[in-house]
Amino acid sequence: RIERLHAVEILDSRARPTLSVTLTTADGLRVRAGVPSGASTGTREAVELRDDDPEHFGGQGVARAVAHVNGEMAEALTGRSFSTFAEVDAELIALDGTDAKSRLGANAVIGVSLAAARAQATAAGREMWQCLAEVAEVAPRLPVPHFNVVNGGAHAANQLDFQEFMIAPLGAPSLPEAVRAGAEVYARLKARLARGGYAIGLGDEGGFAPAIDRPEEVLRLLVEAITDAGYTPGRDGIALALDPAASEFRTPEGRYRIAGDELTSDQLIDRYEEMCDRFPVWSIEDGLGEDDWTGWTRLTARLGDRIQLVGDDIFVTNPAIITEAIDRKVANSALIKVNQIGTVTETLEAMRICRVAGYTQMVSHRSGETEDTFIADLAVGTGCGQLKSGAPARGERVAKYNRLIEISDAEPALPYGIVR
Ligand code: PGA
Ligand code: ZN
Repeated sequence: RIERLHAVEILDSRARPTLSVTLTTADGLRVRAGVPSGASTGTREAVELRDDDPEHFGGQGVARAVAHVNGEMAEALTGRSFSTFAEVDAELIALDGTDAKSRLGANAVIGVSLAAARAQATAAGREMWQCLAEVAEVAPRLPVPHFNVVNGGAHAANQLDFQEFMIAPLGAPSLPEAVRAGAEVYARLKARLARGGYAIGLGDEGGFAPAIDRPEEVLRLLVEAITDAGYTPGRDGIALALDPAASEFRTPEGRYRIAGDELTSDQLIDRYEEMCDRFPVWSIEDGLGEDDWTGWTRLTARLGDRIQLVGDDIFVTNPAIITEAIDRKVANSALIKVNQIGTVTETLEAMRICRVAGYTQMVSHRSGETEDTFIADLAVGTGCGQLKSGAPARGERVAKYNRLIEISDAEPALPYGIVR
């Protein structure tokens, strides 16, 4: 039984307000959840409610969302008994009543949903990942961490158009070894950048943000840093993954502006193919814009047998959109962000649809994060095999990787990596 539901405005990793939601049960059990927030958001994402009050955090305040939790949502839920978080989620969806959770705010809704899921696990004396594995009816596994070590796009002030350059220790023997590999390559990359005269300041997700504009130059540096650290570049060792977040550099005319060049969808696909020929790129997320569905079908036909093509802004963790994409043979993988859809239940549904269709899934943080580690448990519990949570640096990023290490330590029998 829910005794109390309470939200407060806290800060995210970018010094912007977000929500912390605390749920107290009648048994005196208390859990809390922190709400993430994106910068390069898809237009069809569930709606994050901001106050637009210029006197309060420059318009970024979430006082209205907080008031919805403490008012309407608390009134609807407190004093009532729920046996599963799915029941709470159904209640939240009905209470909001809109498709995009725009009335109560997806930030308010996901905060309560995360807290409800955590309350169910805690009440049952289970770890969050165990509870999720039972609900999703899948075999849990430890995911390959995708460390975002070079930041560009909307996450950094440099001239790099691609948003994320990740290293993925696909060939690591275990999760702790994968984290160690990530940290070692990160250190080597930092040394290389410093030697090359580049600034080593960090972007929003903890990766370096050097003054480089050509993506190929970054890929070259990553391969060198992997080698410097004594690892093998490639799928048997450490592979590369990209999130260009192409919607962000798409022009109104439907072209893609990269380092001064204006490319058509097909020219950009050619460029990706060249990158895959020259570098061990194993995954590309949002390679094309969210409105370029015809481009996406050609991208998938060209590269889908060779690499993972992940839909983020185009899919927004939305079960209906993913279903349409599967039908139209768009991408072969989905990025999974809980706040894009707004409840844990709908997130699990999106992942189930992917599993049934043979689409892989990568659980993801947002560029604005808190110390909350729910997504680490989500990745483990759904057995999807992949998690991206930024660089192996900055507390809010490292919290997720450290949670994976704790799970791995407590449960040595859990397998690591993607199912091949
Ligand atoms: P966001 O970026 O959290 O700023 O939307 C993450 C991503 O594009 O994957
Ligand atoms: Zn993305």
